[in-house]
Amino acid sequence: MQVFILGATGSIGGALLPLLRQEYPSADITALVRKDSDAPVLAKFGVKSVKGSAEKLELVTELSSKADLIINTADADIFDAVKAILDGAKRRYEATGKKSIFINISGVAVTISTPEGVFRETSQVYDDRDSALTKGLPDSAPHRNVENLVTEADVAGYVAVYTLSPATVYGASKKSSITRQTLLAKVLLATVKQSKKVHIVGEGSNLLNFVHVDDVASGYLTVIKHAFSGNDTESGYGRYYWVGGEQVPWIKVAKAYAKEFHAKGIADSDEPVQATPAEDPMMGFFGCNVRVVPGRLQDLGWSPVGSSIFDNVENDIRMALEAQ
Ligand SMILES: NC(=O)c1ccc[n+]([C@@H]2O[C@H](COP(=O)([O-])OP(=O)(O)OC[C@H]3O[C@@H](n4cnc5c(N)ncnc54)[C@H](OP(=O)(O)O)[C@@H]3O)[C@@H](O)[C@H]2O)c1
Repeated sequence: MQVFILGATGSIGGALLPLLRQEYPSADITALVRKDSDAPVLAKFGVKSVKGSAEKLELVTELSSKADLIINTADADIFDAVKAILDGAKRRYEATGKKSIFINISGVAVTISTPEGVFRETSQVYDDRDSALTKGLPDSAPHRNVENLVTEADVAGYVAVYTLSPATVYGASKKSSITRQTLLAKVLLATVKQSKKVHIVGEGSNLLNFVHVDDVASGYLTVIKHAFSGNDTESGYGRYYWVGGEQVPWIKVAKAYAKEFHAKGIADSDEPVQATPAEDPMMGFFGCNVRVVPGRLQDLGWSPVGSSIFDNVENDIRMALEAQ
């Protein structure tokens, strides 16, 4: 089996590699990397590196055109690169009649609403088993242009595309030698360095969803195995998967981060303070209710088993500080 992966050195991609290698020991895996130093890191997993980037579109198409399985864990918004991947898959289909499997990344930000900072029982719960809900998300939502692009390609029939849409990821992989700062800790650190505060919108009772990186990786593997099983009769938004874990009010997470940033002398208060999205753009997401149910993964036997977000705050901040 030929595999092509974009994002192999990232938090999610790095956590996936050992699982992929264990499940498919003889797979020929090629990763697109931006740095020469990535090659020896990936070689430990028996992964070949090709130097380039997602912006090298002809290279992305060429590598995709040779792969049975294509994985993008690099970025949910690289529309042109995703189009180049689809072009490669189409080229392969037209030349050989073989349909590739493409696992693309999105994210729960696609469900954002008005960031009020308040939990509302009436806020929409998105269970991915109800395809009408994911299909009905507005075209203006984040990541949506890419989601629509890949879903249309799946329906067109030359490639089987699965969209995996993780909640906010935390933790360092316990199964991989590749660990990287989480985007969550990275953005909170950037804000705290500027304002000396961790922010909430309003009372901060809005619910967000958090998932351990190793659970994201096992979710990926679960979907990949399902895609190759020959048992999948779905198409389009029927191949859309939330990868969600703990449902937690933002204020609880903000308090945990504020306490730790304060203990490290980076925040001037050990309690979160209010800010509007105009004052802190990240509050446009962290002030929303994000309620997703990973029903399709649950039906495939997957469940999140990683340690709680609160057990990972200290280490996630440490990784973000080290990465500066
Ligand atoms: N983390 C989350 O909370 C979360 C939640 C939902 C969705 N997502 C989506 O998932 C993506 C990956 O998340 P992550 O936490 O694994 O991020 P990450 O740790 O920053 O890893 C990103 C990986 O993609 C590679 N990459 C990024 N842009 C690239 C480009 N233009 N060309 C080639 N390689 C590129 C990086 O390579 P380098 O080593 O060269 O930088 C790295 O290997 C995010 O960008 C986001 O769109 C993330």
